[in-house]
Amino acid sequence: MNPLMQRLGLRVPIVQAPMAGGPSTPELAAAVSQAGGLGSLGAAYLTPAQLREAAGAVRRLTDRPFALNLFVPEPRPAVTEEEVAAAVADLVPLHAELELPPPALPERVREDFEAQFEAVLEVKPAVFSFAFGRLGRPEMAALQAAGTLVIGTATGVEEARALAADGVDAVVAQGGAAGGHRGGWGQDELADTLALTRAVAEAVALPVIAAGGLMNAADVRAALDAGASLVQCGTAFLRATEAGTSAPYRSALAAAQPGATTLTRAFSGRLARGLANRVTAEVGRPLPYPLQNGLTRPLRTAAASAGRAEFLSLWAGEGAHRGREGKAAEILGDLWPE
Ligand SMILES: Cc1cc2nc3c(=O)[nH]c(=O)nc-3n(C[C@H](O)[C@H](O)[C@H](O)COP(=O)(O)O)c2cc1C
Repeated sequence: MNPLMQRLGLRVPIVQAPMAGGPSTPELAAAVSQAGGLGSLGAAYLTPAQLREAAGAVRRLTDRPFALNLFVPEPRPAVTEEEVAAAVADLVPLHAELELPPPALPERVREDFEAQFEAVLEVKPAVFSFAFGRLGRPEMAALQAAGTLVIGTATGVEEARALAADGVDAVVAQGGAAGGHRGGWGQDELADTLALTRAVAEAVALPVIAAGGLMNAADVRAALDAGASLVQCGTAFLRATEAGTSAPYRSALAAAQPGATTLTRAFSGRLARGLANRVTAEVGRPLPYPLQNGLTRPLRTAAASAGRAEFLSLWAGEGAHRGREGKAAEILGDLWPE
């Protein structure tokens, strides 16, 4: 039992990673929190009303602490007409296969962070975690004044130092094996998770949360031995009964072999790890994040309805082939046999 576990009242040193875009449902977060870990809601793509509703749904299922997670926004990138035309041209043949018209860049490519953040302050979660950047001082102060523990995401030691200087309460050390988007903003080292955990634990006087490719009890033990206070697992929970992972996504995960994942910007413009498919192979000229995310949304939505995994973002870590189906509490039990 370390100070971070004590502060949050956790019995199990596992964080179920926030997984925006569907997988991290209120049911999943509540099941993990109820079983003694820390459940998280990936709220980055939720409207403020949806965020409030999802947090309320967790609270109807458990009175245990949980985390809300958002992406820190960056200014909308400038792109040329030629760049937009190239990104559209890459998607046109895939759209045609799903009988969709060619894609167009929407005006609105992300949720309003300020409004989402207002909703977080109203909800007053036990934990707020964020990725893709640094939180402003007023936001940090408002969360901490409300008693919320603040966690930032680092992919390297320099980012961890910057987050510590900003005043976060704990740092996620995200190794290169991690599923989903790279969570940093600076030089991404795609580090070995255990090596990064050790280096960050030495560099900052804060609790470290190890993330990336950690799939079983031995992995969790090794991360704690490397200096982590908690271990954050995403991919291990993707096939949980309570997760919102779609049916074609689940089938692709169940069939995954070692080496099935790749790093790609094809879906969102930001580097992310997922199962290789037609989009990661065929879309070579993405716009910068978050423009590409807006541009590929119609394709992803149509592919989900049509059950076509080859056009879906199948975010998963390098341990995808070691995952399994089951109740979230059973998966948590595999990670931390009590
Ligand atoms: C499907 C999926 C979605 C993710 N979405 C988020 C997110 O919304 N916010 C975030 O901070 N991290 C997100 N991540 C990254 C996780 O926080 C974590 O770094 C990663 O899952 C750890 O590696 P693992 O998947 O090998 O366990 C996501 C990961 C996955 C697999």
